[in-house]
Amino acid sequence: MRKLVYHVASTLDGFIADRDHDVSAFPTTGDHVDEYLSSLRSYGAVVMGRATYELGLRFGVEDPYPWLDTFVVSRTMAASPHPHVKLEPDGVDLARRLRAEDGAPVYLCGGGVLAGALFDASLVDEVVVKLNPLLFGDGLGLTGRLARARPLRLASAKVHDSGVVVLRYAVDAA
Ligand SMILES: NC(=O)c1ccc[n+]([C@@H]2O[C@H](COP(=O)([O-])OP(=O)(O)OC[C@H]3O[C@@H](n4cnc5c(N)ncnc54)[C@H](OP(=O)(O)O)[C@@H]3O)[C@@H](O)[C@H]2O)c1
Repeated sequence: MRKLVYHVASTLDGFIADRDHDVSAFPTTGDHVDEYLSSLRSYGAVVMGRATYELGLRFGVEDPYPWLDTFVVSRTMAASPHPHVKLEPDGVDLARRLRAEDGAPVYLCGGGVLAGALFDASLVDEVVVKLNPLLFGDGLGLTGRLARARPLRLASAKVHDSGVVVLRYAVDAA
């Protein structure tokens, strides 16, 4: 069984994007970025919600992770813009199938809506939060609404020179 890891950047007040769905205030340079980019090589597949995928698409990025099996979850997209990017109509079913396989962990890229659905279905094994020294005050939460509280167990914490703290948690089985 492979693990599904929700790996995400958050503000100190728990937002993954601001109220306009903008993420440009997150710092894009620094030692935490180098670590993030190399950690992406440890995954075998990536799963993202339609809204997260469309953010890159607006800038012409059709295949954001060419070295990973790539899945975009959507009930409304008619066709994938890129042959390497697979469309999936049911995120929960996809996560179940991927977790049942052998192989490198699955990168759950976001966003909060998809992550919330997968937490509620008890399909997230780990959470890696890049906690940024930044406040939005309002915006998109880390998971959206959850049906119930999910206790997490801290596995590691790393403070970067950039001020970003990377926290890794295990999700307790429901
Ligand atoms: N800070 C970070 O690290 C980070 C990471 C990722 C994203 N983001 C930001 O987060 C924002 C997008 O996140 P979001 O929470 O609004 O949306 P999202 O989760 O990326 O996408 C939501 C869409 O995904 C589809 N979906 C979600 N759950 C599904 C399920 N169980 N089965 C089938 N389809 C499902 C639906 O698409 P349809 O409506 O087409 O059915 C839904 O409208 C963007 O602003 C992005 O920049 C930030």
